Amino acid sequence: MRPETGNSVTVTNHVRAATKEKHPMEIETTALLADYDHVRKLAMQSLFQSLDKFSEGTVIVDRNARVVWINRDYAARFGFNDPTAVIGLDCEAVIPNSMMRDVVKGGEPILLDILETDRDPIVVTRLPIKDDNGETIGAVGFVLFNELKGLSPLFSQYARLRAELISTRQSLAQVRRAKYSFSSLIGTSAASLEVKRQARRAARLASPVLLLGETGTGKELLAHAIHGASGRADAPLVTVNVAAIPDTLLELEFFGAEAGAYTGAERKGRIGKFELAQGGTLFLDEIGDMPLALQGKLLRVLQEQEFEPLGSNRIVRTDVRIIAATSADLPALVAQGRFRADLYYRLNVLMIRVPPLRERLADIEAMAYSILDKLAVESGAGHLELDKDALAVLCAYTWPGNVRELRNTLERAVLLSDSERIDARSLARFIGDGRGQRRDEAEGDPHDTPDGAGVQQDPPYQQYGEAMRDYERRFLTEALRVAGGQVTKAAAQIGMARATLYRRIVALGIDV
Ligand SMILES: Nc1ncnc2c1ncn2[C@@H]1O[C@H](COP(=O)(O)OP(=O)(O)OP(=O)(O)O)[C@@H](O)[C@H]1O
Ligand SMILES: [Mg+2]
Repeated sequence: MRPETGNSVTVTNHVRAATKEKHPMEIETTALLADYDHVRKLAMQSLFQSLDKFSEGTVIVDRNARVVWINRDYAARFGFNDPTAVIGLDCEAVIPNSMMRDVVKGGEPILLDILETDRDPIVVTRLPIKDDNGETIGAVGFVLFNELKGLSPLFSQYARLRAELISTRQSLAQVRRAKYSFSSLIGTSAASLEVKRQARRAARLASPVLLLGETGTGKELLAHAIHGASGRADAPLVTVNVAAIPDTLLELEFFGAEAGAYTGAERKGRIGKFELAQGGTLFLDEIGDMPLALQGKLLRVLQEQEFEPLGSNRIVRTDVRIIAATSADLPALVAQGRFRADLYYRLNVLMIRVPPLRERLADIEAMAYSILDKLAVESGAGHLELDKDALAVLCAYTWPGNVRELRNTLERAVLLSDSERIDARSLARFIGDGRGQRRDEAEGDPHDTPDGAGVQQDPPYQQYGEAMRDYERRFLTEALRVAGGQVTKAAAQIGMARATLYRRIVALGIDV
């Protein structure tokens, strides 16, 4: 508006300077402009009055975005019965999500916007108020809602999209919950029930969780279940696998970098995992592999609950729940000075030890069948069944790779066998890869026969012939491994004819 006023003054001066005497035309122009100025002022006044009249709400703020005036209806919408009571308050204290401060700061109008309120969203317009020097001295906001019916197609489309977004988010959260809930954790042994009890408790609390357990015991699954059952379930669960990222990139991965902080790929800047996990959970997998320098930085962030992305002076407040996991012996790493004791104590508030599979034999059958059912679906096979003696073989093994190894073993057995029934004989050749031992060997079982066959006593009896074949298979597999897979060399080393060894390899189904 002001530039027009300025223009009109310039025109008049120009006319005067050009003709010393007042020309009748000039008098007419001046009168006309004065009249126009009057009309314009009236127009502004009536515009304000009509907007205020038709508007669901009007608010005026000063240059500090404090409320100067608000109409009764609008104040009431935000729970203030007396509109005068809010005068002088910051606009955000009265109208949550208000953007009047942006208008005051930037001096630019926001002509059409949707303001979310705790009832329906409303359509608003916000205009700066300028003084004669063009300085922004405040702003005025109107709610354009019921009376401006012209907006309704736009608004109903927005409402529809918003409803769709809400329902998509809900179903996404449901899928997430279903996928990672405690119910997907298999195991009813006393040890598994205890882990689930502790994890459910951890889900209700806010402190960091430390999951300790051998590889493949289900630590990651547990971290998902804890997040999914926590109050943060609708916010993201962000995972950093510390062991999988080179030390030099870990800091960037955690805290991100401002654009230009790095050359090359990072020129654009990167949001760190801490920031991505805002409001949710950050799962630090293989925390035992974290370099000492970064341990110190992590500890500081956990204590101060804020950090600065690399190359920035922006401070990010963190609201992140930490779940850390490792298969390493963390107390031993602390004792060796490879893991900071202070960080260990900070993380070790709720410690859950996930027991290895060999300590929860009662789970093996359910676990194996759950894996087989999934494999049956994936491979399109019919129902897959384990013979009783096959189950005994599974229970007799130490499973150093735990559930993951069990799954891999069953997968190979299913892929490479023709039958839908898996018996001990076909299973045994896939167990162990020479890494694990049978439990009875590992424990020095007194029932071991002198030749080390380790006849299974309980449960159920293994037949002598089967046990001998098992032993022979393992014995020959080991001999072949030591000989680097060369049959002739292996035969010579164990004092067996080469042809006999070949026959036994075929008969026992040994992979060479
Ligand atoms: N209780 C369980 N019920 C069902 N599946 C499980 C269970 N525990 C583990 N698994 C399965 O075993 C595999 C290994 O689990 P997960 O990756 O969670 O182990 P981890 O302890 O994180 O292992 P690592 O230390 O090697 O990372 C996954 O496929 C997982 O789905
Ligand atoms: Mg893991």
